[in-house]
Amino acid sequence: MVDIHSHVLYGMDDGSRDLQTSLDMLKVASDSGTTDIVATPHSDLQFVFQPEEIERQIEELSAAVPDIRIHCGCDFHLHFDNIRDCLDHPEKYTINHKRYLMVEFSDSLIAKTTGDVFDRMLRVDITPVITHPERNHLLMKQLDQITQWVQAGCLVQVTSQSFLGRFGKTPQSAAEALMSRNLVHFIASDAHDPEYRPPTLKPGFDHIASKYGEETARRLFITNPAATLTGDYIEVEYPDQSARPRKWYQLW
Ligand SMILES: [Fe+2]
Repeated sequence: MVDIHSHVLYGMDDGSRDLQTSLDMLKVASDSGTTDIVATPHSDLQFVFQPEEIERQIEELSAAVPDIRIHCGCDFHLHFDNIRDCLDHPEKYTINHKRYLMVEFSDSLIAKTTGDVFDRMLRVDITPVITHPERNHLLMKQLDQITQWVQAGCLVQVTSQSFLGRFGKTPQSAAEALMSRNLVHFIASDAHDPEYRPPTLKPGFDHIASKYGEETARRLFITNPAATLTGDYIEVEYPDQSARPRKWYQLW
């Protein structure tokens, strides 16, 4: 499996604290069947993005844990300086310096200009990947908006543990609702440590395989994530408007 969202690098954000924690996380990931993991440190108003340190740590960790390949990426927040720099230097933030950009929304505000920002990114061939909307109550109140962004060319990543109830019943229901509308393109760990938010994808893979079939599980955990590493475009099923659950808002 290919895990496109993790905080496996140390001392950069609220993820791994130190080298040993990162090594433990990589071992957990590898033991759970992950062959490739994308390190996505936050770039927001709290944590400074450090491309050179990212490359250095990837080299260091790759040498120590040869069982798993580590790639660069960013957990990108949509603030003004970030957006401007990304439009000028997309490869600085995108997964493996290709075209996919992980975009995390604030829990407290969704800017009205977000659609315009996505349009500008898409025009320069950046594909925004909206990360774990199932855990963001503001985004889940705007399911039609997410659908429009996907129709415009954006993609969606859901957290594997959301399907298993790790973040509570509401994100769990939301994750299934996104699946029912064909609004999930990647499932990743968003791991922060080896124990409580570990980089284990296998339980999520098994859940998706048993509920939606092996082929869907392989697409969401293997094929689509692998395309982010090479920069290939992925096939996207048109979001299914008709599958919208009735009385959806009552989930919140
Ligand atoms: Fe994250």
